[in-house]
Amino acid sequence: MTKVYPSLLSADFLNLDKELKALETAGVDGVHFDVMDGQFVPNISVGIPILDAVRKGTTLPIDVHLMIETPEKYVGLFAEHGADMISVHVEATPHIHRVIEQIKNANVKAGVVINPGTPVDAIRPILNMIDYVLVMTVNPGFGGQTFIESCVEKLDQLYALKQRLGLDFEIEVDGGINDQTVKTVVNHGATMLVAGSYFFKQDDYQQATRILKG
Ligand code: DX5
Ligand code: ZN
Repeated sequence: MTKVYPSLLSADFLNLDKELKALETAGVDGVHFDVMDGQFVPNISVGIPILDAVRKGTTLPIDVHLMIETPEKYVGLFAEHGADMISVHVEATPHIHRVIEQIKNANVKAGVVINPGTPVDAIRPILNMIDYVLVMTVNPGFGGQTFIESCVEKLDQLYALKQRLGLDFEIEVDGGINDQTVKTVVNHGATMLVAGSYFFKQDDYQQATRILKG
């Protein structure tokens, strides 16, 4: 069944503990934690102190999405502070192979992310190393943006590669996922869904989870 990872970027930070408990009750598969540095993306979000708080507040897996330059300097730190999964953008480093090795050496699941303007070809050489590919379906930096339809063909390409090469990485999507766009991405092979603004706008997280899981 499709896994659901609500993006804490749209959660109520004043009541994070309550939000985390509500997510556990709702039956989500983990939480998505967006880190932005104001360099790689035109926005700044949260870092280590908030990750520590989230780690204390939940036993759910934490999926850290690093939207930062020079991720090689920081993956170890995020692993030490409780990340269960870490994804890095292929556009953010000339040494993606080395960074993925660093993440795996830290005993954390490793993901690679591609922006809407980046082709699947850019990550083809490391597909046999990673646990998941994150296909951005908006340009990273902000919650609440509109789903970019042209990214869907990359899901098809990844699904085909997965079959052809006999690999078992998950395909995660992030950006503009809601009760409508979810159908498209799942039909095209997505197995992990990140949802921020749509999810946290709902009064009933359990129902939101059920809707996204189909
Ligand atoms: C955007 C972040 C997303 C964001 C998604 O740069 O990576 O995780 O929170 O938000 P929605 O679901 O509102 O597009
Ligand atoms: Zn994200």
